[in-house]
Amino acid sequence: TGKFFVGGNWKCNGTKDSISKLVADLNSAKLEPDVDVVVAPPFLYIDQVKNSLTERIEISAQNSWVGKGGAFTGEISAEQLKDLGCKWVVLGHSERRHIIGENDEFIGKKAAYALSQGLGVIACIGELLEEREAGKTFDVCFQQLKAYADAVPSWDNIVIAYEPVWAIGTGKVATPQQAQEVHVAVRDWLKKNVPDEVASKTRIIYGGSVNGGNSAELAKQEDIDGFLVGGASLKGPEFATIVNSVT
Ligand code: 13P
Repeated sequence: TGKFFVGGNWKCNGTKDSISKLVADLNSAKLEPDVDVVVAPPFLYIDQVKNSLTERIEISAQNSWVGKGGAFTGEISAEQLKDLGCKWVVLGHSERRHIIGENDEFIGKKAAYALSQGLGVIACIGELLEEREAGKTFDVCFQQLKAYADAVPSWDNIVIAYEPVWAIGTGKVATPQQAQEVHVAVRDWLKKNVPDEVASKTRIIYGGSVNGGNSAELAKQEDIDGFLVGGASLKGPEFATIVNSVT
């Protein structure tokens, strides 16, 4: 559904030097034309990346403040991200939910504010291992989806990233069937709970130990519309392989 979308979430990695090398590799990579390609550098390096990366690839932030900028020490506002040339922001990532402690309501507000400032939102959802083992995968994902749905006025600029927490940074990628099953459930949830056209138009991308060796099989699944890549997005050629796994 929709144009294939591949995001590279660099997380809290890189130096000026390593990022300049990664940008050079991305600039020389051959990327399939019919794919939206986005990278999310750490805030500090967004300006460097914006000034050196090909315009073929759009830039995302990894987080943003929940409202208008002001006296919020250490935070970065959506307005500032726009000012730096960001098109997207990743929100609700499991590392922010489970390590930093962000909750559904706060994440929903962040999504609404980022959209109001003209950013696209890569809205992450996903269950913990114990939630999967307890048979709660769908419940958890639906609750996280509902928090976005309750907060945002429109889904036009939202990409949903399903990232099972047990698959992130573990090397334990979801099987194509496991991912497809949740993506279908997410789409069904959208059909029932938000305006009609959203379910068919909204891209649902998968994240969690995606690499150059497993992306092609995952990409074959009907409801996997792209990827959010962590570790493997730090290697330009491998990231290009993942982008080009579009089917
Ligand atoms: P890994 O690809 O390193 O598992 O990370 C996935 C992720 O969290 C992307 O946002």
